[in-house]
Amino acid sequence: MHVWAVANQKGGVGKTTTAVTLGGILADRGHQVLLLDLDPHGSLTSYFKYDPDSVEKSVYDLFQHKQVPEDLPASLLLDTGHDRLKIIAASTALATLERQMSGKGGMGLVVAKSLAQLWNRFDYVLIDSPPVLGLLMINALAACEQLIIPVQTEFLAIKGLERMMRTLKMINKARKQALPYTVVPTLYDRRTQASIQSLRLLRNTYGDVIWHSMVPVDTKFRDASVAGMPASMLDPESRGVHAYSVLLKFLQEKEGEARRAASPEGRGAQ
Ligand SMILES: Nc1ncnc2c1ncn2[C@@H]1O[C@H](COP(=O)(O)OP(=O)(O)O)[C@@H](O)[C@H]1O
Ligand SMILES: [Mg+2]
Repeated sequence: MHVWAVANQKGGVGKTTTAVTLGGILADRGHQVLLLDLDPHGSLTSYFKYDPDSVEKSVYDLFQHKQVPEDLPASLLLDTGHDRLKIIAASTALATLERQMSGKGGMGLVVAKSLAQLWNRFDYVLIDSPPVLGLLMINALAACEQLIIPVQTEFLAIKGLERMMRTLKMINKARKQALPYTVVPTLYDRRTQASIQSLRLLRNTYGDVIWHSMVPVDTKFRDASVAGMPASMLDPESRGVHAYSVLLKFLQEKEGEARRAASPEGRGAQ
């Protein structure tokens, strides 16, 4: 099982779109995919036509036990219109977690431990994270093998990225190995100077951790969210889906390299 998190301490940069679209493409290709919504706003949950205000089973349930009961994660799975794509919903109650959990230690690995119970069930898990640093983002970053950081190609969004970088540094201090991450320029509009200039700035500043391409503005993403299906189901030939397919290949290769480097043979060969 591969676990990837999508995070950035800024809203509206394409996090949910990235999780849904990559997940959809993976499911189209025959993989069993889980999308986990850790954002109390529940955009991913709403995307698939579940209501975060009233959903009965959600990720919130995982945080209500000292130890996650064995069958609980599997019982939270909800269907989407795609056979191989499941979600675990976010409920708005998640917003109260921070206060409930303050002072209770050891809650940072709830998601990692829950996913460990679904090891045989899924090939890929994509975690959609909230735009604030707190217990939920900590859980996402602790559970994943690589991090995807979507950044809107405009100046204010680049400021938000600096904040995310500081968070990552802090997280890495607590990890055995640094978390591999990729910055993904999104919502790129080649007709605007703001997009062109901010992409240039991103590339100059984040040289080797930025994905070499970008996700263009594509209205098909909005159509797909209205239809409640991943964009690849609605229009597999769209520009946006094509961009995410290229990104997916890049991420898979990056992960393959990281795994080889971490394996005993890989280390021996160095
Ligand atoms: N590449 C894109 N082209 C056009 N619209 C997009 C694109 N990516 C995201 N959007 C739209 O922008 C809005 C914010 O995207 P979303 O993925 O929800 O961001 P976040 O999860 O970071 O808040 C949504 O309405 C979404 O449909
Ligand atoms: Mg979102």
